[in-house]
Amino acid sequence: MTDVKQFRSVYETGGVYDRRLLAHYYNGRDDLDLISALLTAHYGQPAGGLNVVEFGCGTGRATARLAPYARHLTVSDSSPIMIDAVGERNAQARTICANTRDVVAELLADGRAGSFDLVGAFWSLSYPLGEYFETMTAEGIQPATDVAAARRHASTFVRDMTRLLAPGGHLLALFFDSDTPEQQLVTRLWERIASFPEEGRSYTRNVLLAALREAEGAGDGTLAHTRRSGTAFAPDIDSAIAWFNVVHLKSFPALVNDPTVQEEIRSFVRRYEHPSGEVTLPSGVHVIDFHATRHPAHHLPR
Ligand SMILES: C[S@@+](CC[C@H](N)C(=O)[O-])C[C@H]1O[C@@H](n2cnc3c(N)ncnc32)[C@H](O)[C@@H]1O
Repeated sequence: MTDVKQFRSVYETGGVYDRRLLAHYYNGRDDLDLISALLTAHYGQPAGGLNVVEFGCGTGRATARLAPYARHLTVSDSSPIMIDAVGERNAQARTICANTRDVVAELLADGRAGSFDLVGAFWSLSYPLGEYFETMTAEGIQPATDVAAARRHASTFVRDMTRLLAPGGHLLALFFDSDTPEQQLVTRLWERIASFPEEGRSYTRNVLLAALREAEGAGDGTLAHTRRSGTAFAPDIDSAIAWFNVVHLKSFPALVNDPTVQEEIRSFVRRYEHPSGEVTLPSGVHVIDFHATRHPAHHLPR
């Protein structure tokens, strides 16, 4: 069996993610500005006093926005390449190279429940959640046989993340919008390999939101969820196509080597090409903010 790392180069080979990532804008602000706006709204100007953990940190794009708020900063990612990059940029951080699912379990086992003022996960939670439902290898995708059990375990994982929050803390996540034309194309392409459980590629987001609503119902906090529309900007057609092949399709051989797939991607991105050669793909982001407040009474007017 081919090692999954041989084709998933976007997260496993130095520099690929930063080079292939398209900038995403929402009303003139990029995704990191959305994070900064939330941080300012919740914590004001950075005072370096918070206990912060970030899961799926990648090369540390969002970490750079979190770090000024942190007294103690823990960052984790399953890719050694990513962890090396983020460690170089954040010498003060504790870095953990592991699956988010294991990191959450280990932090709880180490007695860290209720100890983080801020838990962040940006564009990264779909992976550990998806892994409850399917396993990816270079040869294909192996769906979980017991979807109900997968859903239960994924839900427990989400609830465990909320257990890390200190009273008043926030779990902040940015999550891809599976309903945009771009993501619908990605879904159709992946479905050539294997179908997705139940609601298509929205299932990971739905599991996350359902578990957070459950946590709200149990009185563990309150959930704010908005969807922002935006655009992914590519300076030219080739960058837009590389974004599909390397980031969306993870250089998966059966897809990137298929001429009909390549034709579909090319004709899709051409629809959004400007006379300048630049490409602006319609995009969207789900902004998820779980606030660990013990009592719904905080909603009352003061
Ligand atoms: C789309 S990137 C986002 C990186 C970063 N948060 C950002 O906004 O640029 C997703 C990241 O999740 C990591 N990742 C994928 N599956 C993971 C898992 N199960 N556990 C931990 N990290 C994972 C990848 O290595 C990658 O760095």
